[in-house]
Amino acid sequence: MIKKIVNFFREYNSRNDEERRTDRLYAVSAIFDTPNEIMAAASEVSGRGYKKFDAYTPYPVHRLDQAMGIKYPLVGPIAFTGGITGLFLALLMMWWMGSKDYPNIIGGKPFFSLPPSIPITFEGTILLTGFATVVGMLILLNKLPKINSPISDTEFMKRVSSDKFGIVIAADDRMFSETQVTELFRSLGASRIENIYYKPSNLTDKTPIFNRKFIMTLIGVAAIAAIVTYFTLNIVLYQVVPFDWMWKQARINAQSESLFFANKSGMREPVAGTVARGFMPYEYKGLPDSAVRLLANPLPVSKNVIEKGQEKYNIYCSPCHGYFGDGDGRLNDQFPKPPSLHNSKVLNWKDGNIYHVITNGQNVMPSYEGQISRDDRWAIVHYVRVLQRAKNAKDQDLPK
Ligand code: HEC
Repeated sequence: MIKKIVNFFREYNSRNDEERRTDRLYAVSAIFDTPNEIMAAASEVSGRGYKKFDAYTPYPVHRLDQAMGIKYPLVGPIAFTGGITGLFLALLMMWWMGSKDYPNIIGGKPFFSLPPSIPITFEGTILLTGFATVVGMLILLNKLPKINSPISDTEFMKRVSSDKFGIVIAADDRMFSETQVTELFRSLGASRIENIYYKPSNLTDKTPIFNRKFIMTLIGVAAIAAIVTYFTLNIVLYQVVPFDWMWKQARINAQSESLFFANKSGMREPVAGTVARGFMPYEYKGLPDSAVRLLANPLPVSKNVIEKGQEKYNIYCSPCHGYFGDGDGRLNDQFPKPPSLHNSKVLNWKDGNIYHVITNGQNVMPSYEGQISRDDRWAIVHYVRVLQRAKNAKDQDLPK
C-alpha cells in the first residue's frame, strides 16, 4: 500500500519534471510603476527595432501608441474601405434595380435618382463599415479568436490589469535574445522582470469554437432543440391536442379558384344593379360624349370651389396635362402626350363633356371615377374653365 503511494508520487513528480523540461520561453515581461516609465520604455523598445512587443496598462495611456511606433491605426482605413464599398454597392444596387432590372414609372419620377436612394445607401455604408471594422479588428489585427495566450494566466497579467504598467517582448522577435532583453528592461528601471513560458502542447489546444467536442455539442443541442420544436408544433399541437387551426379550416383564399360556383370564381360579385348606400352611380357610364350634353355642373363658381378644383387638378391631372393644361406634363414622353385643354373642341365643350372624360376616361386616358369624388371632379371642371379663360383673356378681363 505504502509502496503504491510512494510510486504514485514518484511518477507524478517525474511527469512534472518532464513537463517543466518541455517548457519553452514565450516572452520576457517587465513591470513598470508609472505611466512615464512605460512611455519611455515603449519608445526605447521600438527605437531599438523590436517588432513583436506589446505594452499593457491598467487604463488608456495617451500617445502610448506613438511611443510604441504605431504610425496609424489600421482599423480606420479598414473601416473606411468597408464604408466606401458599401456606399457604392448600395448605389449600384439601387440604380440596377430601379432602371435595369425592374424599371417602373412612378408619377413620372426618374428611374434612378439620389434622394430616394439615400436611406439604402446609408444602410449599406454603415453595414459594411461595421462588418469591416469587426472582422478587421478582431480577426486581422487582434488575431482573435485566441484565448489561450501564455500571457493570460501570469503574475504579469494580474499586475498590469490592476495598477502596474507592463511591456512584453516576444521570443520569436527577429532581434530577441533573452539576456539582451532582460538587460534592456533592467536599464529602463523595470521593477519586476519575469520570463513567460509555455508548453508547446498547450498552444496546439484550439479555442473552443474550433474544438471538435464543442462543435459536436453545439450540433447536438441544436438537433435536440429542432426535434423538440418539431414535435411540439407538428405532433402535439396539431395532432394530439385537437386544435382547430385556422389554416386547416375549409375556406377559399382570395383570388383563387373554387369549384363550388359555376364560373369557378372564388370571390362573389355584387348582384347586378347593386348600388352602394349613399352612392349615385354615373348614369352615362360608357356612353359617347354626345349623350352628356345636358349634364350641368351642380357646384357654384366660388373661390372655395375653384381652389379645391385647382388642388385636385394639380394632383391628378397636371402630371399629364401640365399645370396650365397645355399637355406638357411632367411625365415627359413616358405616357402618350395628351392634347391641349385649350383646343377648340374642349373650349366649346359643355361642362358635362369634361366631367364625362374625367369620369369615364377617353381612349388612353383612364377613368378617375375611383380616385376623385364626384364633387371634386366637378370642381376640377370649374378649374379647367379658369385655365381656359386665363389663356384666352380679353382686354376687358384685365383689372381697370
Ligand atoms: C395619365 C395621363 C393623364 C392624366 C393623369 C389625365 N389625363 Fe386627360 N388625357 C390624357 C390623354 C393621353 C388624353 C387624350 C386621350 C385621347 O387620345 O383621346 C387626355 C384627354 C383629356 C381630355 C379630352 C381632350 C380632347 O381634346 O379630347 C380632357 C378634357 C382631359 N383629358 C381632362 C383631364 C382631366 C381634367 C384630368 C384630371 C382629372 C386628366 N385629364 C388627367 C392623359 C391624362
